[in-house]
Parts: sequence; structure tokens; C-alpha cells
Amino acid sequence: MTQYNIALIGFGGVNRALAQLVADSNERWDAELGLRLNIVAVTDLYFGSVISPNGIDARMLVDTNFAKGGFGQLSGGSAEACNERVIRHAPADIVVEATFTNPVDGEPAVSHCRWALERGKHVVTTNKGPVALASDELKALAARNGVMFEYEGAVMSGTPVIRMARKTLAGAGIYGFEGILNGTSNFVLGRMEGGLGFADAVKEAQSLGYAEADPSADVEGHDVRLKVVILANELLGGKLAPKDIACEGISGVTVADIETAAQEGYRWKLIGSASVAEDGRIEARVAPRRLPLDHPLAGVGGATNAVSFKTGLLGAVTVTGPGAGRIETAYALLSDIIAIHQAGSGASKKEAA
Ligand SMILES: NC(=O)c1ccc[n+]([C@@H]2O[C@H](COP(=O)([O-])OP(=O)(O)OC[C@H]3O[C@@H](n4cnc5c(N)ncnc54)[C@H](OP(=O)(O)O)[C@@H]3O)[C@@H](O)[C@H]2O)c1
Repeated sequence: MTQYNIALIGFGGVNRALAQLVADSNERWDAELGLRLNIVAVTDLYFGSVISPNGIDARMLVDTNFAKGGFGQLSGGSAEACNERVIRHAPADIVVEATFTNPVDGEPAVSHCRWALERGKHVVTTNKGPVALASDELKALAARNGVMFEYEGAVMSGTPVIRMARKTLAGAGIYGFEGILNGTSNFVLGRMEGGLGFADAVKEAQSLGYAEADPSADVEGHDVRLKVVILANELLGGKLAPKDIACEGISGVTVADIETAAQEGYRWKLIGSASVAEDGRIEARVAPRRLPLDHPLAGVGGATNAVSFKTGLLGAVTVTGPGAGRIETAYALLSDIIAIHQAGSGASKKEAA
């Protein structure tokens, strides 16, 4: 059995769900996978930070209703978020980055990843910012320090996309993809098919917790654009930045457009896509499109996500599943940690009997 010490950066929905999985599942992971996780540090803007080299009781972490600065009351705790000290000095093998996504420069998450990799610690993250905006630098830093930088959850939460395409579809000749990569906009379009206007459908998505108070990143396509950057660079060898991708959201689609499409055998979807052109350039875009009903993405409803890979040897291969959710996204972090475990590259992992 190998025990990995982990440090949680951010203690919101996703990292709290990971702590819950640790509390519930360590015994099963030990039996099935030969690994256990030990939380040695947590830092969060609201709760403060705590370092405990022998480990923090995961059950206590998830069950306690901490107030602002509440980690200050724990042994080894501080009411402040001491991110740099936690990342550089806590005795963690793996740093788990799950703070907020900054779509402009990826900070401060890029610095969080950099500090960890410089210190020879693996990084797993669900944060699109560092992956879309700084992955070349961070991958090179990881390689120089003999550790791994993994980010399966950055595109479709726990639904396997990046590792599946890179590993399971290796050699199949992926030359493009198209995807429904934002559950909120897909939900809104579905409700508009049921006759609701755009504004009412967005309100319903907000009341169900699918959409933020400011829904623009979802419905204007900016969230999808970051995911297209990640997939195009990861799977097609691109060097794209968000500014290279034309981006149009769904706010211009009307109920009349949707009704006309339905009469003609089509359905509107917000599609993020990229493909390699004949001259080798990568053409990528985010736009609402009318799909024929037999298209692999036409039947993907509600808040579900899907990606259809275009491959030379298999034709279209489509993966469908949740694109959000606390536990679902925490599972993506677990899958990254399992990848590190299976690669056997835990620089400072502890072997136990
Ligand atoms: N939830 C999902 O379904 C999902 C799916 C895929 C990817 N993701 C990504 O995963 C990441 C985490 O998501 P989440 O749902 O857990 O978000 P969340 O609930 O908003 O949690 C983020 C936590 O990080 C804290 N934080 C923000 N900036 C920080 C900083 N500089 N230092 C320390 N802590 C900081 C926040 O504190 P404050 O609240 O005080 O700001 C909050 O407690 C995000 O990047 C998100 O885009 C989430």
C-alpha cells in the first residue's frame, strides 16, 4: 500500500467533496488500488489554513461547520490563507489545486501550480485557468522536476476525456472533435425547445443551481472556449490561446429559431470544435449550430456534456457524461491521483506494509 500526503488548495465544493471521498473510501482504495490519501494541509481564502504533518482527520474536516478564519482554531492552523507556505512547506506529495478559475491569466492558480512543481510535488487540478493558459510552462516544469501535472477534470469534470483520448485512442488518428462542453447552455437550449424564452430558461437554470448569478461565462461561450483551447492543444498539438478562437454564445438564439429547426429535423446546440485543416493549421470555434437529429451530439439533453472525437480509424467516437458536480469533479482528481500512482512516479511517496 502506498500512502500519499495531499495538500488541498481551496476548500470549496470540489476539494470538500474530495475530503469526503477520503473519509468514506480510503479502506476501499487500499483494497482495490493499493493507495490511501492523507490530508496534511488545507488552505482557503475564507477558512484560513492548516498544516498537520501527521494528517488531518478528513471526517472532522467535512463535518465541522467552520466559520470565517475557522482553521485558525485547529492545531497547526492560521486564520489566514497562507497558500505559498502551505504549498512550499507542507509535507505533501501531491498538491490539489481547486481555487477559482481566472480566464484572463490563470492567476493565482498558475503560481500555486508553479510553487508545487518547483518543490518536486505532483499537481492535480480541476482549474481550467492554469491548463488553458500556462500548460506548456507547467508541463515543462513538471518534467524537469520528475513529477506529474494532471488535469482530467478541467474539461468535463469526472467524465474521462483527456486521458481517454490520449491513452485509449492512441493511434486512432484523432484529427478533430466537437463537443457540448457547457451544461448550463445545453440545459437552457433544452428548456427553450419546451417553449420557454431565453431569459426565463436562464432563470430556471439559476434556480436549479446550474447557472451562476452572472451567467455570461456559460451562455456567451467563454467557458467552452477555454475547454476548446485545452482539448485542441492537448489532442491536436495546437498552440492556441483563447483570443485565437472565434466565440459566439446562445443569447442570440430565439424560440422561433428553435421551432423552425425542429420543423426541419434539426436541433440547436452550443458546439465547441476544432480540427486540423489540410495545411496543418488548427481551426477552432465556439458557436451555436443546427445539428441534424442523427448527429451523435443531437440527443445529448439537460446539463449533460459530450465530446465526439473525429478519428481516422474509427470514425466518430463519442463520450457522454456529467460535466459538473462536486463529487463528479472530485472523482476527476482521484483519477489523476490514480494515474500518478500507476505511473509509479511518486517522488516522496511513502511505502507502507
Ligand atoms: N464544481 C464543479 O462542478 C467544477 C467542475 C469542473 C471544474 N471545476 C473547477 O474546479 C475549481 C473549484 O471549483 P469549486 O466548485 O470547488 O469552486 P468553489 O466552491 O467556488 O470553491 C473554491 C474555493 O477556493 C477558495 N479560493 C478562491 N481563491 C483562493 C485563493 N487564492 N487561495 C485559497 N483559496 C481560494 C474559495 O474561497 P472564497 O469562496 O472565499 O473565494 C472557495 O472556498 C474551479 O476552478 C472550477 O472552475 C469545478
